[in-house]
This record gives sequence, structure tokens and C-alpha cells, in this order.
Amino acid sequence: MSSYVIGRATRLVGEVRLPGDKSLSHRAAFCAAMSDGVSRLYNFSPSLDCERTLACLRALGVPIEVAESDAGMTVTVHGVGLEGFVPPEQVLDAGNSGSTIRMFAGILAGQPFESTITGDASLRRRPMDRIVHPLRLMGASIHAHEDRYAPLTIRGGNLRPIRYRLPVASAQVKSCLLLAGLFASGTTTVEEPVPTRNHTELMLAEFGAHVSRTGDAISVIGRSRLRAQEYRIAGDVSSAAFLVAGALALEGSQLLLRDVLLNPMRTGFLDVLRRWGARIEIENRRRWHGEWVGDIRVTAAPRLSVSRAEPLVLGGALIPQVIDEIPVLAVLATRMPGGLLVRDAGELRVKESDRIRVVVENLRRMGAHVIEYDDGLAVAGPQTLRGAEIEPQGDHRIAMAFAIAGLLAEGETVIRDPEVVAVSFPAFFRVLEEIIHR
Ligand code: S3P
Repeated sequence: MSSYVIGRATRLVGEVRLPGDKSLSHRAAFCAAMSDGVSRLYNFSPSLDCERTLACLRALGVPIEVAESDAGMTVTVHGVGLEGFVPPEQVLDAGNSGSTIRMFAGILAGQPFESTITGDASLRRRPMDRIVHPLRLMGASIHAHEDRYAPLTIRGGNLRPIRYRLPVASAQVKSCLLLAGLFASGTTTVEEPVPTRNHTELMLAEFGAHVSRTGDAISVIGRSRLRAQEYRIAGDVSSAAFLVAGALALEGSQLLLRDVLLNPMRTGFLDVLRRWGARIEIENRRRWHGEWVGDIRVTAAPRLSVSRAEPLVLGGALIPQVIDEIPVLAVLATRMPGGLLVRDAGELRVKESDRIRVVVENLRRMGAHVIEYDDGLAVAGPQTLRGAEIEPQGDHRIAMAFAIAGLLAEGETVIRDPEVVAVSFPAFFRVLEEIIHR
């Protein structure tokens, strides 16, 4: 295990084009694989998570080619249609990727053969009953470790359509059921308690499936045929969040992030930053394949919202819109008068790590005052961070959030196990070095 040493910076300056969004890349690969014809996916995410999705699709007999150039990764998928998958010869390995295992399970549930999918130690600790239960209602037979965890052994085919209300707001579970719904005879409907990212709905429509939304219910008509597409994937907005946070915290920063995904279900962190008084502008707003895209211009506000003495409160329906950005928002909160209070975010405990625990522990290592709740945390602000040794517990977003903390802290910060960033953003440290001014 190596480590990465990061010191205080004065500002972040530059222009960055980010690799493709991870959530979009998984979905584009799944839709392309189930289509008739050859799809080209431009600016596909080079993350280990999306590599796992491609590997699992290949194992099901989908021919896929990957080409890398300065313009990013282009993935060519020779779609096999809804009926063209073949039984895998080995156990499918989703690695660290919750999206891969949960969405793939929806597709496997539609196959008339048995297959097993598993992942790394972190993924095998994450709850899978949330997909196992509704997929069984659709008629799939699934064996799960302790009826709850991966490995999942799935035998499906002949699925029944269901109408299902999600007990927890989860885009991965919603997506799993919509993908399974493609293999059902009739209309499958998923109701969500609060809105979550709607990429699967938009992507399925783009590939020609019959999807519709009425209120909080999303329906897909089974056996709708998908057609291959040329699809350009916008830059990863969750990766952008780390750079935006760093730029805002360092006075005099000037950062332009081009062609970033701006789906409103993903940009909650920008709204939070604005509530803190940050100056963030969106330029060139346009749509690619039904998804909003634009350039994010960040000019560090010299003093962020000095008058605010109450903590900024995040809870309720806002949580799914900022779920992946909470670690870095917690770091930034140490700069904010009033700090931050996060509640209703118990889901953070079942991400790649227990993100409430790991954020609290690492902030405390840096000398910060933090309170841990079952479903959230409170970070006092403003307060000074001290350089420390950071243990990301195998979690990419923790490593990146605390690299940003390292830019703000006094002294040196050591990020243990820094290669874990490759799970979503392999070039993170290189990109950061390019824009850091000391
Ligand atoms: C994702 C949904 C979220 C998110 C994850 C990606 C997706 O997970 O945390 O990083 O692409 O659908 P949940 O569905 O478990 O909330």
C-alpha cells in the first residue's frame, strides 16, 4: 500500500475536461449491450467500476472494443439484443461497484440461465436484499448469502411485471427493476418515495424503449426493442465536485470545468455551495441525449457567506441529490461560519465504506470538531484543519475528499492507499497537480 503526500495550496487555476460520468457510463453500456446494432459510447468513464461493467457484459457474450485517445475513451458495443446473452463460464465480478452488481442483477433476472455475480469485500458487505426481494416478486429465483449479501446466484426468465414502491430511495434499485422490466411481459412500474437520479429513464428512452413517468411512478413496457446509438457521455459531475470544492475554499482560484453533466438530480451540491455564498456560473448549457450538460465556472468567493452563523442543514429529499458529495461538503464545512448539519443520510453507512464513520474519524484526525449521528453528522465551522494521516478505508470518495482537505490544512496530509481513487477517477491526483498553485 502506497501513500500520497499533499500540502497546503494557495489556489486552483485552470481548465479541465473531465472523463465521462460514471453513472451514465454504466447505463450506456447496459443499454448498448441490449440493443440491436453497434453503439459507440464517447468519453466513457475510465473508472475501475465501469471497467467491471464492461467485463461482466463481455462474460455474457457481448463483443466490446475500447479505444483511448486524447479525447477520452470510446467504447464500441456490438449489441446482442434482449435475447442474445449467453451463460457466463465464470462467476461475474462486479469489483467495488454497487451500480454494476445491482443493475446487472436486473438483467440477469431476465435470463433463462443461472449465473452468479459477486464483488470485493466491501461490496459483499453492502445490502442486496433491496433488489433480491422485488426481483423475486417478478419471478426470478435468487440465492443470496444470508439472504441479503453477494454472491447472488440468479436464475430468471419469464418475468412478471410488478408495481413496486421502493422502501429506500435508491437509483440503483430503481434502475435494476426498470432493466428487469425490459424482460417482463407487460408494464413494470417503480414508485420512488423521493426523486433520485433519473439517468436510466432518460437513457432507456434514448435507446428507444417505452418509458414514462407519472408523478413519482416510472414505468417501462417489457420487450420494447432497443436501438444502437452514438452517445456522448458528459463529464463526471461527482468527480467535478472535488475540484469545485477545492477551488471555492482557496481564495483567488479560477477554474473552468467543461462539458460537465448537469442533471438537476446530481447538481444538489452546487445549490448547497451557492447557499454558502459561493460564486458558481454555468455556461454553454445545452442537452446531450436528454441530459443537461454545461461548463462550470468557479471563482472562489473571497469570503464565503461570513454572516451565516447557523449551520447549513441538509436533510429530507435533498439527500439523494447530494449523496455522493457529502464527504467533500463535510470537509468544506470546516471553512464555513456555522458549519454543516446532515441528517436523513443513513444510506451513507452502506456505501463503499460507512461514510459517516469514516468522514468523522478522518476529520477528527485532522483536529476537527465533528458530531456523529446515526443518520448524519455535524461539522463545526469555521475551524482549522491540521495535516494528518488519512485512512480512506478503501473508499475512493473519502480519498479524494481528504486530498481536498489536505489543500486547506496546516502541514502535510498523507493519504493512505491513494490508488483507490481509480474506482471512479483514475487521473484525480494528476489533474489536481496540474491546477494546484502553491
Ligand atoms: C448511483 C446511485 C447512488 C449513488 C451511486 C451511484 C447510480 O446509489 O450513491 O454512487 O448510478 O444509480 P444508491 O442507488 O444506492 O443510492
